[in-house]
Order: sequence, then C-alpha cells, then structure tokens
Amino acid sequence: MTKIIDGKAFAAEIRAEIAREVEKIKAAGEQIPGLAVIMVGDDPASAIYVKSKEKQAQEVGFLSTVIRLPAETSQAEVLDVIDKLNRNPDYHGILLQLPVPAHLDKDALIAAISPKKDVDGFHPENVGKLWYSDREHQTAIPCTPLGCSLILERYVGSDLNGKNAVMIGASNVVGKPMAALLLRMGATVSICHSTTLDVAEYARNADILIVATGNAHLVKASWVKEGAVVLDVGINRLADGSIVGDVDFEAVKDKTAAITPVPGGIGPMTIACLLKNTLTLRKTKALSSNTNTE
Ligand code: GUN
Repeated sequence: MTKIIDGKAFAAEIRAEIAREVEKIKAAGEQIPGLAVIMVGDDPASAIYVKSKEKQAQEVGFLSTVIRLPAETSQAEVLDVIDKLNRNPDYHGILLQLPVPAHLDKDALIAAISPKKDVDGFHPENVGKLWYSDREHQTAIPCTPLGCSLILERYVGSDLNGKNAVMIGASNVVGKPMAALLLRMGATVSICHSTTLDVAEYARNADILIVATGNAHLVKASWVKEGAVVLDVGINRLADGSIVGDVDFEAVKDKTAAITPVPGGIGPMTIACLLKNTLTLRKTKALSSNTNTE
C-alpha cells in the first residue's frame, strides 16, 4: 500500500511544538527567537515565500521582520543591512532570500552573514561542518534538506545503512546538502545533475529517490523501483495555472512505498524547518556568552 506523506500535517505538528517552546521561553521571561529576512527586488515567487515565512514566524510567537530592498540596491547597501543584523541581538536568524538580482554577488553576501546567525546553513563555514559531520558544533541545516530528512526519519527510519539514495539535482540549496545528510544517515548516495548521461538508470536503482530539478513531471513510472520512497521537492506551475512536482505523481505513486505530493509534501516542511532552525540558533546563543552579539 502506498503511503501518501502529508507534509502539511507534519509541518503543522512541528510549528505547534515550536509555539509551545516559545510560550515556555516567554513564561520564563527570556528572550524570544528573532528572524530577519532580507528580500532584494520583487521576484513574484520569492514575494509569496517571504510573506509565508513572515506570517508563520509571527504565528509561532517569534520576532519576525522582513527587510524589503529595491531591485537596484547596491552590494555595499545589502552588506550594510547584513552587518547591522549581525550586530543586532534581537535577531538570532538572518535569511537572504534567493535568488538576488544579477548585479549582486550572492556568495559574498551569504559569506557576510554571521555563521552563528546563518539560519539557512549556507555560509561556507556551516557547509563545511555539514560535510564534516560536525554535529556538536552544527547549527542550522539547510531547510528543505532538513525537512526531507525529518520525513525520512519518520517514514523510513534514521538508519539508511545499505540503502541506495539517489538525489536528482545538485544545487547548493537542496541537492548538495541533501546528499550530505543522506550520507550521514548511512545511505550510499548518487547525485545526478544536468550532464548525467542516464538519470533514469540511476533512479531505477534508488531505494530513496529525491528530486529537485524544476522540471515538471520529469520522473516517470519507468524510472522508479517498486517499493521506493520518493520525495518530490519540485514546484512547477503549468500553463493552466496548476502546480505540479518534478515527479509524475499519478503515474508513479502506486509503485512506491511512500511518496510526497505537490503541493502539500515537502513545501510546507521547508518553512517549518526554517522556524526550527531559528529556535535552534536562539538556544545556541543562550548557551554561548551573553556578551557575544555576533
Ligand atoms: N529560495 C528558495 N529556497 C530558498 C531557501 O531555502 N533559502 C533562501 N534563502 N532562499 C531560497
């Protein structure tokens, strides 16, 4: 029997748990978690995501601020905003919404965010810790891969020893950090990308298949092994306005042991994990020196 994974319900559970923790923090008279999102320009998809991040952070009781900057904002001006947030003790998490306009040096901006406030886990120092499996000093883990790993823990188990995991997509936001997490969990990992010769052949060998390419219905039933677990990170809008994933859900679902739908699968988990990371950074700060505002 195929299990259709309800990411919306799982994300709601995570948010409820976070809200309860914030209540306890408030009751103890301690500082509430603070999240600052920087959005440069007016990319319509980003605007929708950022609004959801702002609203959900408020709903769990965080201090939640969005700094919206015009598309023509210079590198120096964005760096100045990041510098002020790095120094502001009210904010424990800083997120630069991607993509940023082409004239900006994205990598330099990400590297300017304090690694201790890097709620996306994109800073080179945190990327290194993720691959090094430095759990003790690890702070935030990239939100979408974190959401996928929580789903795997719940529906497959935290031990993926002996399992073949195939990640289709090699972005810094999803594919590469996801591969690091799968490796940590014990899986044998393949990463397929735009120049992989026969992606279907890799996919057919997957016990766990994760897809993040931005190609509607890329993964067909013939690509999927009987009994595989399939996580679909894609969000694609078709000409008729409907939203579909990178997996041909209707064709694939009956072959799988478990599968995430689009919408309602991985998408809601991403923002829940952003909130989880913000809370983690707030707690990490509480453990470190109170005078350190970096
Ligand atoms: N744009 C799309 N996904 C993400 C994400 O996880 N973090 C950031 N900062 N921008 C994104």
